[in-house]
Amino acid sequence: MSTKLDDSGPSRRGFLSRASGLLIASGAPALGVVSGASVTAARAETAIANQADPFFGPHQGGILTPAQRHTYFAAFDLVATQRADIVRMLRSWTEAAARLCAGQPAGPAPHHTDILGTDAGDVQDLAPARLTITFGFGPGLFTKDGVDRYGLAARRSAALVDLPHFPGDQLVAEKSDGDLSVQACADDPQVAFHAVRELARLAYDAAQIRWVQAGFCGPGGKATPRNLMGFKDGTNNPSTTDAAAMNQVVWVGQEGPRWMAGGSYLVVRRSRIALEHWDRMKIAFQEQTVGRQKHSGAPLGGHHEHDQPNLDLNDADGNPVTPENAHVRLAAAATNDGARILRRAYSYNDGANLTAERWPPWRQGMEFDAGLLFICYQKDPRTGFIKIFERMAKFDMLNQFVTVTGSALFACPGGVAKGRYIGQDLFEEGAA
Ligand code: HEM
Repeated sequence: MSTKLDDSGPSRRGFLSRASGLLIASGAPALGVVSGASVTAARAETAIANQADPFFGPHQGGILTPAQRHTYFAAFDLVATQRADIVRMLRSWTEAAARLCAGQPAGPAPHHTDILGTDAGDVQDLAPARLTITFGFGPGLFTKDGVDRYGLAARRSAALVDLPHFPGDQLVAEKSDGDLSVQACADDPQVAFHAVRELARLAYDAAQIRWVQAGFCGPGGKATPRNLMGFKDGTNNPSTTDAAAMNQVVWVGQEGPRWMAGGSYLVVRRSRIALEHWDRMKIAFQEQTVGRQKHSGAPLGGHHEHDQPNLDLNDADGNPVTPENAHVRLAAAATNDGARILRRAYSYNDGANLTAERWPPWRQGMEFDAGLLFICYQKDPRTGFIKIFERMAKFDMLNQFVTVTGSALFACPGGVAKGRYIGQDLFEEGAA
């Protein structure tokens, strides 16, 4: 392994910026005969890839960050016997995460001399690609099988509930739960995977991977990306640039324990979509199911994507234009006593399996294991995801195409200040 850890050394980003500068300065002969437009596009792409998202700050990255193209989500089981071993790992994780987000090698584990190596080196020629790493604490950090393994049970926040079992859930343990979560998001899938791989190395004998899920997302920018159903997904999210809305919907304030101030609760649901079945449905039926127009993303009865949905609109026969069981009607704040969440979902594609469908026409055979890694953030899951999904789980027309096979809830603490480690308030003596 050739990667050397050196604080003063150049970051991958610096190297790539200088390299692209040289290329431009030299008249870019290597580009050959290309149009001005594609040169501009290539430069814009390089600029995006070169961007590094700051790791330190009042909130963790990867929550309000405009969605990167790829994610690699990992849940870990703690195997540490001492609380001190977890603290040591979280220190290593924090330091490594800051380096990785800056485009540097993950580095050694100064707090654990048994962990060898500094970085696998496979992304040394790649840009930071807006990498963010978001850490979460699952219920198992506090109590596991009724045992307070690390003396933290009394510090578990009331909002970190055990998620209820919802009608239709077909959960498998290998895709559910976990004591800790690490979500890496980046515009390059290798950069995202690399981040989790390095943190798994540093976890050493304190934590082991329980499940992972890779995901992808259409290009961001101004356009809303589409999910695998072909619909724009994220249109009616609260605006991440509206600080008041984020304080109201996403960030924990003074109401939670101190270690959660500035943090948020993450619900992840691995939702397999019966694409073979969906693809046989008429577009009009798909639109009724979702409650939006497929091409434009406009609400039914509206014209443009960002038109306000009018759920009270009736057609000439007096029937609701947006069906009673349409996804967006059941999910809307207006029908849920104002409950709102911030969705940050990724599509996933895990090949094909022999599958027996649960809904007519009860298709059996090789089917894609692909769908949506539904992820949402909120200040309290009891008044966010759980409140909204309880009714949807029973009545949503989308359910006949969706099977949830994985589910977990994690408390993502507030952001990290330089010199501190993620979740430090939780572990410190006397922390509430
Ligand atoms: C496979 C699963 C899912 C798919 C394919 C899906 C797809 C969509 C689409 C296409 C929209 C309309 C565009 C938009 O506003 O973003 C939407 C809206 C929404 N979805 Fe989902 N969704 C899924 C699961 C969920 C789950 C589990 C929840 C949990 C509560 C949820 C909550 C919402 C909310 C709150 C809205 C906005 C409703 C509004 O106010 O207009 N979705 N979803």
